[in-house]
Order: sequence, then C-alpha cells, then structure tokens
Amino acid sequence: MKISIIGSGYVGLVTGACFAKLNNEVICVDIDKDKVEKINRGISPFYEKGLDVLLKDVKDRLKATTDIKNAVINSDVTFICVGTPRGLVGEADLSYIESACKDIGEALKRKDEYHLVVVKSTVPPGTTEHRIKPLLEEVSKKETYKDFGLAMNPEFLREGNAIEDFMNPDRIVIGVKDDRSKEILLELYKDFNCPKLIVSPTTAEMIKYASNAFLAIKISFINEIGNLCKALGIDVYEVAKGIGLDKRIGKHFLRAGIGFGGSCFPKDVKALINKAREHFYHPIILNAALEINEAQPYKLVDLLEKKAGNLRGKDVTVLGLAFKPNTDDVREAPSIKIVNALLNKGAKVHVYDPKAMENFKRLFGNKIDYCNSAREAVSKSKYVLIVTEWNEFKDKELYKEKYVFDGRRVDEAKELAKYYEGVCW
Ligand code: UDX
Repeated sequence: MKISIIGSGYVGLVTGACFAKLNNEVICVDIDKDKVEKINRGISPFYEKGLDVLLKDVKDRLKATTDIKNAVINSDVTFICVGTPRGLVGEADLSYIESACKDIGEALKRKDEYHLVVVKSTVPPGTTEHRIKPLLEEVSKKETYKDFGLAMNPEFLREGNAIEDFMNPDRIVIGVKDDRSKEILLELYKDFNCPKLIVSPTTAEMIKYASNAFLAIKISFINEIGNLCKALGIDVYEVAKGIGLDKRIGKHFLRAGIGFGGSCFPKDVKALINKAREHFYHPIILNAALEINEAQPYKLVDLLEKKAGNLRGKDVTVLGLAFKPNTDDVREAPSIKIVNALLNKGAKVHVYDPKAMENFKRLFGNKIDYCNSAREAVSKSKYVLIVTEWNEFKDKELYKEKYVFDGRRVDEAKELAKYYEGVCW
C-alpha cells in the first residue's frame, strides 16, 4: 500500500519505517525541514534503538517531505501521528491534530479516489468521531465512509523498544465504524499474528488511555508499597517478585523507584482525569497515581540529605537524565525535578547520560556541569545519585568508596559503595 504518515516523531517515524520494512511505500511528513532532510538521508532525527539502521534499510521505500497535501494525494492511507501535548489544565491539546486534519481535508477535496484516514495519535475518547470526522467533512466537503474512510488505531510502542514493539505487538486495536476501513486495516496488518480487536473508534481511544493509566497506577502502587517497605525495613523488590509471580498480577511494571516520566504516562493520565471532570466524575485512583508520582523523585534527594546534611556548596553527581534507558528523551523525566531540587538547595551538580545530554542542556544551560563519561561525573563528587538505569551504570567499580543513592535499583551499585541507599525509601 501507499501510506502517508503525518508527524515524524517517535511514533510516526517508527510506524513509517516499520510499514516500509513490510514492503509498503511510505511518505513521512513533518513541518520541520531539518528533520525531513535527515530522514531522507537515512538518519533518525532522534535516538531510537535500531531506527538509523532500519531507515537506511528502507531508504528506497520511505521518503520524507514537508508537503502534507501532496503526500495525502499520492497515498491510499494516511496515519495521523502528530503530538497531543498537555494543555493548560491538563487536557490533551488537539491543535496539531486540527491543523493536520485541515490539510488532509484540503487534499481529500482535490482527490477523486477513496482514501482512508487513520488516527494513531493518542486522543481522548470521542475525538475521532466528534472532532476529527466533522472537521474532515467540513474542509473536504465530502462524506465519511462514502468518499473516505476513518479509523482509530492506537499505538502501544515503548520508546527505546519501539521497533520491536511494532513488529511484535501483544494486540492490534482497530477502531472503525465501517467495513471498508476495517478491511483495509486488516489487510495492512495481515502478517501480524496477534489478536486483532475490532471496536468503535471511541472504544479504541479509551483502550489506549486505560492501558497507559493502568500501567501508571501499577508503578505508583509499587512505589507506595515501597515507601511503606522502607519504613518497615523490607526490600520492596523481593515483595514485587513475590506478588508478580501471581498470574493475575504479573511481574511487569512493578519496579519501584523514583517514578514514571516520559511523554505518555503523565500526560495521558492527566488528560483522562480532565475528560472525567468534563463529565463530573472525580477519578480517585488516577489522581492518587499522579500524587504519588509527583513526590517520588524528591525522596531520593531526601535520602541524600539524611546522609549528607545541608547540600549547600556540596558536589553531587547525577547518573542518568533520560526518563528511562535507551532513549534521549527527557520529557517529564524525574531527573528534572531532582536536579532542580539539588540546585535550589545550593548543591554543585555534575551530570552524565549516554544519550540525553543535549536535550538536558536545553533545559538547564550552564547551571550544571556536563561530564563526558560516567567515570568523570562520579570522580567529581562523594555523593552519586542513580536516576536512570542505563547498562553502563552497572559497572560496580564506578561506585567504589562512594555514597550511592539509587533511584532505580541497579544492583551492582551496592557492591563497592561505601554507603548504599537503595530504591526502597
Ligand atoms: C509508554 C507505554 O509503555 C507505551 O505502551 C505507550 O504507547 C507509550 O507510553 P514509554 O513512555 O516509552 O511507553 O515508557 P515505559 O517503558 O512504559 O516507561 C514509562 C516510565 O515508567 C519510565 O519513566 C520508567 O522508568 C517508569 N517505570 C516503568 C517504572 O518506574 N517502573 C516500572 O516498573 C516500569
């Protein structure tokens, strides 16, 4: 099939590259000229494991452009993959979606053949049917399900593992109202052997929010248990293992620590809370998950202060800035709260991350010292905070004679540390 992808961020570019790998012809669209140019040279504009190699591999079948209308006209299916950032009161900001829909609508107006529009961006329940559909119809002057198809097909890709997740999904959710849209998507995903769930677009939207909310709640749950374990002198990781072996609970997403960050969990839980409020429902569990997560990063600084006393003028090393390993993304990363707290307390902060330094520099400028290696960063302080569990931080020699405050349970850290305070507070 000929596929156009609107928005070449983590979701759009990975989706485009994977569809190209599956022998489709793909046009990736972005408003950022530099990004487009990089993609056309086979270079990923951001770090995602395996993406550079994949882009080079599919160079003949994947092109990038800033011209959205031509991309739509010259394809059979368009995936909307633009961001839905957090708005002023926590709602999902749909302005990029609306702008993409206007351009797609203009293109549909000029196109005679049938076309399928698929919403992949994470949007609140009801958006595809009540905002996107009317907008596409108004601009194109055409009728949905007759002149063009419409579907909602959420992604469940983890950053750092996105290609693997795309190629081996647990399930594919297809939100549709008409048979033609359904058949096209089933054809596109025909090589995937996982369960394919056919639901309405609104249900598909809710499945995405509910999945992310559940995972976020699971993390906040184990962090709450971890906080209690700390007070009781129990290792929360042993507890997590004990409960995770129960098949009804499952072992994943039970790693206690400084909490979840990233572009999805914090934003999507907030957007779901906002949607609930619009309907006069007060979501107690969702609010609690966020409340626990807000406080969690500061607990690492509390532990440090308990040992080091007043931090004014003291050197502190932070290992890891990305919100998790294998990505350069620092959006909503716990490192931001931790570094801010350290600076407010007057500490001299030395940081190192294998991939996220440039993104962090944009936030903190010259307020902190950026080091070239973990070893260099550690050499500058007596106190070391582990904030992201990158593999290279598993070199236990790093922690020899150091005071280590581990926010992510890097087991190796405790072996040579002079003083080790693990993730369970
Ligand atoms: C998430 C979802 O997993 C994915 O399905 C969705 O499409 C997008 O959002 P992502 O944000 O890339 O993916 O990362 P994920 O691996 O889910 O981790 C999110 C955060 O939770 C990270 O900060 C991570 O460190 C934290 N986390 C995860 C924990 O603190 N404990 C855990 O047990 C698991």
